[in-house]
Amino acid sequence: MAAARIMVTQKLVDKIDSDLLVYFLAQDDNQCPQCSPPIKDLVENAWKLKDFSGKAGEQIMAYPSSVNGRILAKRVVVIGLGKITADTGQSNVAEQLRKAGGDVAAVCAKIKANSMAVSLVSLPGLSAAQTVQYLSEGILLGDYRFDKYKGTTQKKDDYKGLKSIRVSCAGSVKAVRNGVKKALTAADAACKARDMANEPGNGWTSKEFAKYAKELADKYDLTYTCLEKKDMEKLGMGGILGVNQGSAIPPKMVVLEYNPEKKSDTILLVGKGITFDSGGISLKPPAGMDQMKYDMCGGAAVLTAMQAVAQEKPGVRVVAIVPATDNMSGSSAIRPGDIIRHYNGVTSEIVNTDAEGRMILGDALSWGIETYAPDCVIDIATLTGAVILGLGHHYSGMISNSDILSDCIHKAGEDAGEPVWRLPLNRDYKKQIKSKVADIKNVGGRPAGTITAGAYLSKFVGKTPWAHLDIAGTAWDFTKKSYIPKGPSGFGVRTFLYLIRSWKKGLLKT
Ligand code: BES
Ligand code: ZN
Ligand code: MN
Repeated sequence: MAAARIMVTQKLVDKIDSDLLVYFLAQDDNQCPQCSPPIKDLVENAWKLKDFSGKAGEQIMAYPSSVNGRILAKRVVVIGLGKITADTGQSNVAEQLRKAGGDVAAVCAKIKANSMAVSLVSLPGLSAAQTVQYLSEGILLGDYRFDKYKGTTQKKDDYKGLKSIRVSCAGSVKAVRNGVKKALTAADAACKARDMANEPGNGWTSKEFAKYAKELADKYDLTYTCLEKKDMEKLGMGGILGVNQGSAIPPKMVVLEYNPEKKSDTILLVGKGITFDSGGISLKPPAGMDQMKYDMCGGAAVLTAMQAVAQEKPGVRVVAIVPATDNMSGSSAIRPGDIIRHYNGVTSEIVNTDAEGRMILGDALSWGIETYAPDCVIDIATLTGAVILGLGHHYSGMISNSDILSDCIHKAGEDAGEPVWRLPLNRDYKKQIKSKVADIKNVGGRPAGTITAGAYLSKFVGKTPWAHLDIAGTAWDFTKKSYIPKGPSGFGVRTFLYLIRSWKKGLLKT
């Protein structure tokens, strides 16, 4: 999907010709100071009738040719932002703005708008650059569709999304442009992650992961590495090789590395890249199995975060690793009861071949930490159905051995509108994955399935500050919001980006 172009101008919005002119209004602010008189009247009248008070989700639509010929846009919409005061809190306002942006995208889809003009609203406690950043993020994330595989059912006049957005601001164009840029990098990356996830199991395999990473590295200043099956055999990566045994498609361990100019901390991101999870010999039931094409959302999140990193060039070194394979049940598939040896020597009894995510992550984490010596490692995975029982579709689960790191991720998640909630991990949970025949087993029974999966991963990170994000409940079917489409959400991409943007050198040592 081609992202909309956003231009910033000081030109008066009334004088911008477009399909839709957008104003935003906070709740109980019937002033609309930046509106021209006819729109002001409109708002005040709707106000008096109690039809509109600026509540989130509220909107007024008008057709200016019948109101006043001085407005060049074909339509005007006033969008409610909800209550915003000086102490609403940055992350709350950010989310209100993203949602309002999503509302705008929905209006655009309804009227099939190609061009749009936005009158930038001024809000207490927020710079124009921040306001435009969150609004644009919402618009761009909301203006998402995946129609690549629509063949004969595709109609000529099917809406293809916004082509151009003009933002009119009163102050510095340069500052506002910076806000727009941040929104574009974040939303482009998240939408790319959604595209990857929307690809079916036969459209997105380990090969496509490698191809995307290679193309990014060629385009930007990133280092690309890919471990092939024979490399994994040499290195003794029994986890990913074991999962791949039942597949006709070879596995890959895809790595992208970003090195800033100055020496800095290293953040290692590891994403589960199971391009289809049938469960293997421990086969999943057929109902809903098609959704397991989304089991690569963690991998998509870390690689597309690298796309944003490559564009923004932050001061911190970032490395992303995706262990990629599908989990199939071919005749040489791994059997329940088989024992494998991971890269770091840990042996594991495979009780259930459907607990495959932890197997590929074990190798990726231990190899990645040894190879890139990171200051911290964050893995992200659609790892357990159990996290949906615990947290539903509103929060991702987090398990961590570091209070500082988990606090930072929690904050980044709040700011990005991607909330995460930390779960405990101690030796009592670790006991649940003790095996009689190997060092560990790959399932820890029904109780606390999300935590015992985390306990498994903890065997591969040593003392490195580590956090694990279980996005099984949020990678798709995420909380209903205007800027989150049905299907894959792109969860994690923006949390990583927000975390990286705010990273301070030596953060974990304080
Ligand atoms: N990919 C699944 C987890 C999943 C389930 C993601 C539902 C999204 C929605 C994972 O590989 C899996 O199968 N986990 C098992 C683990 C069990 C066998 C210990 C699960 O959660 O049932
Ligand atoms: Zn899986
Ligand atoms: Mn599985």
